[in-house]
Amino acid sequence: MDRTFVIAKPDAVERGLSGEILARFERKGLKLVAAELRTIDAETASKHYEEHKDRPFFGELVAFITRGPALLAVLEGPEDTWKVVRTLMGSTNPRDAAPGTIRGDLGILLTENLVHGSDGPESAEREIGIFFPAL
Ligand code: RTP
Ligand code: MG
Repeated sequence: MDRTFVIAKPDAVERGLSGEILARFERKGLKLVAAELRTIDAETASKHYEEHKDRPFFGELVAFITRGPALLAVLEGPEDTWKVVRTLMGSTNPRDAAPGTIRGDLGILLTENLVHGSDGPESAEREIGIFFPAL
């Protein structure tokens, strides 16, 4: 089985959409391996978003992802689970995201795009290690 890492971001929890987001992944056929409501600290957020550390929006991104509780989860499927999750999420900017996707149906702002999913098998392994080291 193949695992990936997902976050229903603080905006999703604030809006009462974390259950809806997890339900979409479960309805697709992915299995929940771990889930926890957790306020991410700045150090962990910086490690998670390390690839963006030199981008002008990095500070804003860390402030956003740490501003309140987020629903962290590990999902499992038969193969390429990270890709299945990314397809269900939709494009990064919800304005461009297709209807039927989480961001396309539920979001409007780039900075509040509801959901994170690992962008490849190496990212999935790295991120599961950061947030669920016991797995
Ligand atoms: P994520 O990592 O959160 O799952 O999102 P993603 O792969 O679709 O997009 P990525 O390129 O990794 O960007 C990470 C997050 O940074 C925010 N962003 N802000 N202000 C800006 O110009 C800007 N550009 C990107 C987005 O909220 C994106 O989710
Ligand atoms: Mg990303």
